[in-house]
Amino acid sequence: MNGATTGATTRTSLFDRVRAAVVALVVVTGWLAAPAPAVAAAGCDPARPDTCTLRELADRLGMRIGATAEPPEVVPGPYRDTLLREFNAVTPENAMKWYTVQSTRGVWNFGPADAVVDAAVAGGLSVRGHTLVWAQDTYTPEWVKAIDDPDELRAVLEEHIGAVMGRYGDRVHRWDVVNEPLASLGTTPSDSVFARVLGPDWVAEVFALAHAADPDAELWINEFGTDVVPGKHEAFLVLVEDLLDAGVPLHGVGLQTHRPSVRGPSTAFQDQLQDYADLGLAVAITELDIPTDPADPDAFADQADAYRRIVGACLAVPACEEVTTWGLTDASTWLDHLFYMEPPTCPLLFDEDYEPKPAYDAVQDLLAEAVLARAPTSTSTPTSSTSTSAPAGPAAPAVAVVARPDFTG
Ligand code: XIL
Repeated sequence: MNGATTGATTRTSLFDRVRAAVVALVVVTGWLAAPAPAVAAAGCDPARPDTCTLRELADRLGMRIGATAEPPEVVPGPYRDTLLREFNAVTPENAMKWYTVQSTRGVWNFGPADAVVDAAVAGGLSVRGHTLVWAQDTYTPEWVKAIDDPDELRAVLEEHIGAVMGRYGDRVHRWDVVNEPLASLGTTPSDSVFARVLGPDWVAEVFALAHAADPDAELWINEFGTDVVPGKHEAFLVLVEDLLDAGVPLHGVGLQTHRPSVRGPSTAFQDQLQDYADLGLAVAITELDIPTDPADPDAFADQADAYRRIVGACLAVPACEEVTTWGLTDASTWLDHLFYMEPPTCPLLFDEDYEPKPAYDAVQDLLAEAVLARAPTSTSTPTSSTSTSAPAGPAAPAVAVVARPDFTG
């Protein structure tokens, strides 16, 4: 009896070992295996959105989903883990700005930007270079603001842009060349040192310098408040049209989209994205955050609806290539430090414990729907920080057109 059992066990074990070997062979070689759908191979099935990270879905759409990072946030830890898992792009929040890179004339401080770019490259994330010139005196180093000679300012701009793009040109292919050329709460040009000293063509001049520094880079212009300030979209559109008419090598238009609350945006928002697409440009939502109202009992559900409207508008416009949130976790957001905001504003996709919020689920669902809406035979090329950049020029459609979202205000 014992012997029979032992014999059966032995035969079973032998059978198991043979079967295991065959399974291993099939797995390793793909031999006899029916072609598996790509979703199964990656473990992400867009028909069940919660099996997919945002990054997996955005990769399939060939679009960027990004968040910001500061150097302390890219050291090993939950911020970096979440960033690398959920996002395929990163924008250095402050590390590439003039006030970080060269706050004192001729004293270069690339350490912070190196840290963010190195982490991005290691994690396979694309980088949005933000920003070469920020047209707000508040954020311009004193020594730059003190320059009143146009030739000297041109030389300083050329050196600064050349140094920053030169250092990162092999890894950063998308740049916010000029940030906020219009007054924050108005429709007229920003009263910056650049406008005062160089005159109204200064934006075109800066783009020419950036193009000379890296002729293959995507050059973007980025603006605040076009979704909020009355008339600002129209004013920015005219500025962009004038740049194109002047032959400026402009690739895309970034709309920051720092929302004032969970209400809106208006139904015009999608049309505004389309206005830039109609000019042959790429468009992106570059700094999205949506603060909640502590008195709202449905704060996170309302916030999810707002994210749905905004990301939905991007997905409905094929030229919309990127959605980047200004931060990642509610534990650290610039909004909590603004004098006119009441913290905690909780404006992001992850709570202070890095748990996904309803807004995350909304974005995940929308991206998954967009993946499913694509033709089954179509392929997409995930963005990559190491890929060669597209030359400046009209953008190819990045995503399929999906149903226009139902705006509520
Ligand atoms: C903000 C950063 O988040 C803050 O940490 C910093 O103190 C000021 O700048 N528009 C932009 C971003 O283009 O660069 C700004 O970032 C937010 C508004």
